[in-house]
Amino acid sequence: MQESTLPLESTLVELEAHAKERIANAATPDDLEAVRVEALGRKGTLAQASKQMGKLAPEERARIGKLLNAAKETLETALETRKAEFDRQALAARLDAEWIDLTLPAPGPRPGSLHPITQVQMEIEDLFTSMGFAVLGGPEVETEYHNFDALNIPADHPARDMQDTFWLKDGNLLRTHTSPVQVRGMERLGPPLRMIAPGRVFRNEEVDASHEHTFYQLEGMMIDREVSVAHLIYFMKTLLSHIFGREVTVRLRPGYFPFVEPGFELDIQCLICGGAGCPVCKYGGWVELLPCGLVNPNVLRMSGIDPEEWNGFAFGLGLTRLAMMRYAIDDIRHLQGGDLRFLKQF
Ligand code: FA5
Repeated sequence: MQESTLPLESTLVELEAHAKERIANAATPDDLEAVRVEALGRKGTLAQASKQMGKLAPEERARIGKLLNAAKETLETALETRKAEFDRQALAARLDAEWIDLTLPAPGPRPGSLHPITQVQMEIEDLFTSMGFAVLGGPEVETEYHNFDALNIPADHPARDMQDTFWLKDGNLLRTHTSPVQVRGMERLGPPLRMIAPGRVFRNEEVDASHEHTFYQLEGMMIDREVSVAHLIYFMKTLLSHIFGREVTVRLRPGYFPFVEPGFELDIQCLICGGAGCPVCKYGGWVELLPCGLVNPNVLRMSGIDPEEWNGFAFGLGLTRLAMMRYAIDDIRHLQGGDLRFLKQF
């Protein structure tokens, strides 16, 4: 006896309604896939129902077969529609996350800043040019004559040992100080002369918190008639109060340099430790900053200037050390270390 088609037909209707409801309620693409497998998969509910068709009369089989195909198509369409919704939502979320305003101006390169030594150097240049001084430059590879002989330091002079020199194979050297630019200034411009000369200098020295092998000095020289120590002290004081913007404690003591007579060492009380003692001042409380003096007549004579008519002062500021004091930098090695975290602070 053939089975009635009615139970199968109503099962199909229920299956379709149930699957449609689950499709409509699927919360994620994974839920949707689970419904697809459950309803349309090889072992899914529709496949199970179609297995029962063999028991039907042929004309009923055809009718129920059509119903089954229709249910399959209906569910496939519902699945595709829901999947398309999920795809649309995913795309909208991605566009939202990746949204950029193309009309905004581009960020452009980050601005750099001037190195602290450059900043101090430029301030001193401005100050001295306002007082009638020229800013001169000179070569970093110098002749022995300009670096030593013309400054009253002949070959056998013990003062040469004060500055450990990088000699080059051709007999030239890396200048050990900016004083050769004085000589070049006197040779080229003659008296009266007011000049400063900032620049990089080199010494074959052990590096520590206050000594570099490569550092900056700023030379100054004034040649005129009747220049005295009072003029020298006036310019030194003006320089320091301009840079620090306040009174700083200095001391002047006799210093020996063959190219000045008398010669002085102007030290500044260490601004890192306030004079209490630290690695920068080698625990002495004072930092050597500004050696200076009245130009030795021999030096004038060697550069073709008559010391009977002209005299002058000269100084050799430790520009790197001045920048350290100005910005309270506790180790000279930071200045040329190239670390952007350090440099960005200025
Ligand atoms: C000189 O170099 C003389 N030419 C200065 C001078 C010029 C004197 C004109 C008189 C007239 P000194 O070797 O002391 O002097 O160096 C000058 C300054 O450079 C020092 O006071 C110090 O501030 C700085 N200096 C010296 N050696 C180093 C170093 N290794 N690292 C950093 N700064 C240094």
